[in-house]
Amino acid sequence: MSGTEASISAAESYKDLREWLSLVEKAGELRCVDGVEPDLEIGELASLVCHSRNNPAVLCDRLKGVEGGYRVLLNALGSRRRLSLSLRLPLPEDEVHFVRLWKEKVKTISLIPHVKVESSPVTKNRVMGKDIDIRRFPAPTWNLHDGGPYIGTGCCVITRSPEDGWVNVGTYRAMLHGPDALGFYAEPGRHGRLHREQWWKQGKPCPVAVVLGCDPLVFIVSSLNLPAGTCELDYAGGIKGEPVETIEEPMTGLPVPASAECVIAGESAEGDLLAEGPFGEWTGYYGSERSPQPVIRIKSILYRDEPIIFGRPPIKPPSSQAHTQGLLRSALLWNYLESAGLTGIKGVWLHEAGGGSLFSVISVRQKYPGHATQVGIVAAQCGVGIRNGRYVVVVDDDIDPADLEEVVWAICTRSDPERSAQVIRRSFSSPLDTGVLPNAVHSSRLVLDACKPYERIHSFPQAVKTDPERMARARKKWGFLVSPKE
Ligand SMILES: Cc1cc2nc3c(=O)[nH]c(=O)nc-3n(C[C@H](O)[C@H](O)[C@H](O)COP(=O)(O)O)c2cc1C
Repeated sequence: MSGTEASISAAESYKDLREWLSLVEKAGELRCVDGVEPDLEIGELASLVCHSRNNPAVLCDRLKGVEGGYRVLLNALGSRRRLSLSLRLPLPEDEVHFVRLWKEKVKTISLIPHVKVESSPVTKNRVMGKDIDIRRFPAPTWNLHDGGPYIGTGCCVITRSPEDGWVNVGTYRAMLHGPDALGFYAEPGRHGRLHREQWWKQGKPCPVAVVLGCDPLVFIVSSLNLPAGTCELDYAGGIKGEPVETIEEPMTGLPVPASAECVIAGESAEGDLLAEGPFGEWTGYYGSERSPQPVIRIKSILYRDEPIIFGRPPIKPPSSQAHTQGLLRSALLWNYLESAGLTGIKGVWLHEAGGGSLFSVISVRQKYPGHATQVGIVAAQCGVGIRNGRYVVVVDDDIDPADLEEVVWAICTRSDPERSAQVIRRSFSSPLDTGVLPNAVHSSRLVLDACKPYERIHSFPQAVKTDPERMARARKKWGFLVSPKE
């Protein structure tokens, strides 16, 4: 495969993961490797390729001990080009440009109901009853201290409310408990968990379908925090501009994407618990102690020939996963700020090193005294993009919020802690918040105004900046003296 850069764009359409992979391969962004060990080595490979932005996707085949053709795809969405392809966006110039494009697109999305089709390659193979052995599929142990193999990391968990029929798709990790059982770890407030509780209240087990690998767009929406009552399949249709095709999963009757590579269907009954975790989480820590968690008893598996499973382990930040979350959520935060009536916002970026959630930078053109603080405080209290966000830095519009070094320069030269820092106490938290005491329900936020002080905005020392045209000329003439990165 050549590493040459070809372009893929919104104009390129695809119908499933395999067509998507062909486009990615054409663009030089796919590598294939054989013989990776699913026990830890695959986690090490994932750490390597997912450590920084814009590395290629890696398709692992012939994993040790796994039938050839049963593949795991790593780092699928680890570049803004692949993310743009999946979201049907034009190719962006840089991170903030992507955020701008996605932010505008989000405003136009209206739900398009999914449509049922009669056939899909995923129905080619079906196992049921005593023939079920999920261990045939690659189930990696990603980290040294994980509580077991996790087959579901980039999965889409589909449930239906028994009360009003609302179909939800969410990404919740799935640990392997044996040949026919999977963990079903959904944090409080997750919609799949809500559905599960509704079934249990009626004294019935919750039917559930876990999709391992499908159109990357469906995975993206599965991990977006959409409002309760929204069917993510219909939201994906809104992004595509045409309905997502689904088939009816025969055991549960749930709609599952026709693009699915593998669908595990089963039931989760109240009180049916097994020890689950710990698991290396997106914060860079083992997120939770081993604890009893609900189980899915598998009744049926559908799969394509040579299925491709999405491997999406959380990597210690910075990571391409955090980058993807940063790209997606920065747009939501930006829209939130504008919908709150705030103007002058020139860029928003949730940094990878903060897991795409905990450290946000917003650039503004200051219009009035207090403008920067106002933007920072509204952002710090916003649950849309940054549920347990910790630090919000506001910079002037000459600073690129996605360039951490420029941001640090602005902090160091334009702010003064005593004047510039505001602490918001008793804010909301999450169970994965390592910075507060175990089981604390509150955390605090720091808002840092790293803009030029408004009262000195016109007399502030002039920044030493090189003229871009002259600099381009110098680079052309003298560039051989520095490493390519510089
Ligand atoms: C790769 C990945 C793994 C995730 N794993 C979990 C998980 O194990 N449990 C959980 O509650 N949320 C997890 N999340 C977050 C949820 O998927 C996300 O909040 C999603 O919006 C939940 O859908 P819901 O709002 O329909 O419940 C994960 C997100 C990603 C991107």
